[in-house]
Amino acid sequence: MRTQVAIIGGGPSGLLLSQLLHKHGIQSIILERKTKDYVLGRIRAGVLEQGLVRLMEEAGCADRLHAEGFTHEGTLISYGKEVFRIDFAKHVGTPVVIYGQTEVTRDLYAAREASGGQIEFNVEDVVIHGADTDAPHVTYNIGGEPKRITCDFVAGCDGFHGVSRKTIPENVRQEYEKIYPFGWLGVLSETPPVNHELIYSNSPRGFALCSMRHAQLSRYYIQCSLNDDPQNWTDNAFWEELKRRIPDEQADVLVTGPSIEKSIAPLRSFVTEPMRWGRLFLCGDAAHIVPPTGAKGLNTAASDVHYLYHGLREFYERNSSDGLDTYSARALARVWKAERFSWWFTSLMHRFPEQTPFDLKMQMADLEFLRESTAAQKAMAENYVGLPY
Ligand code: APR
Ligand code: PHB
Repeated sequence: MRTQVAIIGGGPSGLLLSQLLHKHGIQSIILERKTKDYVLGRIRAGVLEQGLVRLMEEAGCADRLHAEGFTHEGTLISYGKEVFRIDFAKHVGTPVVIYGQTEVTRDLYAAREASGGQIEFNVEDVVIHGADTDAPHVTYNIGGEPKRITCDFVAGCDGFHGVSRKTIPENVRQEYEKIYPFGWLGVLSETPPVNHELIYSNSPRGFALCSMRHAQLSRYYIQCSLNDDPQNWTDNAFWEELKRRIPDEQADVLVTGPSIEKSIAPLRSFVTEPMRWGRLFLCGDAAHIVPPTGAKGLNTAASDVHYLYHGLREFYERNSSDGLDTYSARALARVWKAERFSWWFTSLMHRFPEQTPFDLKMQMADLEFLRESTAAQKAMAENYVGLPY
């Protein structure tokens, strides 16, 4: 087979890139190692920056997002007995949209299928060849049958555990990583959200987050030990612990119910540089990971896709490689700011096992400064709603 852009990975990055390219007549084939149902079965954060909303509109996939997404103009921050609100509208005039990543992915799959997009599922043994030449190709197999795609470019959208990043020679790659000494125990429940906006809480017992998917589907997290196991937590134990970590006003009205999903996610910061090697371009989790605190994973994948999509359009429409040649530097400039914000917010809102009394005093002073300072709240709002592309 031949295509213009071979896309490894059928998650949000690969799907969004493929759909945007299609809108401008640029061919692509997506190679996905799992099934569509498996990909759609992943539970992921649902805070969309306006940049991603605009890309979904440009891709022709924003109808359901606009119909079912919740526009949030602020979020609550709680610490000790204090609760205050970061007012996005007042500080930056930009909201975020709450809409599950699963729904973003579902909408993108629907658009690709409606457009006759080529997606190969259950692929195995993907290997990228000749990325450092002008004629790369990709080999893989399906059900043991060998396949080959020749292409102009390869987009590595295959996540943290994919093959694309590792195709870049080790002596070319520089990797940066920070592992956090705790995890998030998350619960999904068919209950009404405890608050109309998200609540991030730094309590003496650890971090908690109250989020949502829609009016009858809530998402809650509590910080837990890396050695913990979801099996250690009955639903009731989870609800009682959550109530101890969120403001009394919400704890008193929390509607609990059976968990329909319960899992623990580790927290890590990770970046690989460069995000380009020859005709291979890394997008999204293939190149970087953020702790979920700032909800920047999907949104940073979106800005990568934005830069790569425009670079590929310049190449095919204007025979210019400027956008492709500046892709890695431009994408990384925004990635590192998202990494910083995610690290800062994680450091602000969690209790660390090795935290000294002095460290705790610094954290509380940081929170008090954020509560009292308009400048600090504006800076947080700018980062939370999304820095410019
Ligand atoms: N061959 C083909 N497909 C692969 C391979 C491979 N060798 N390895 C991984 N994949 C697929 C995975 O099955 C997955 O569907 O690539 C896809 C990568 O999707 P994500 O991991 O969701 O990464 P991305 O599309 O960049 O989306 C980033 O998703 O993981 C969240 O928090 C993250 O919100 C962020 C967003
Ligand atoms: C979620 O709804 O899963 C979510 C929301 C905000 C975050 C992280 C996760 O910062």
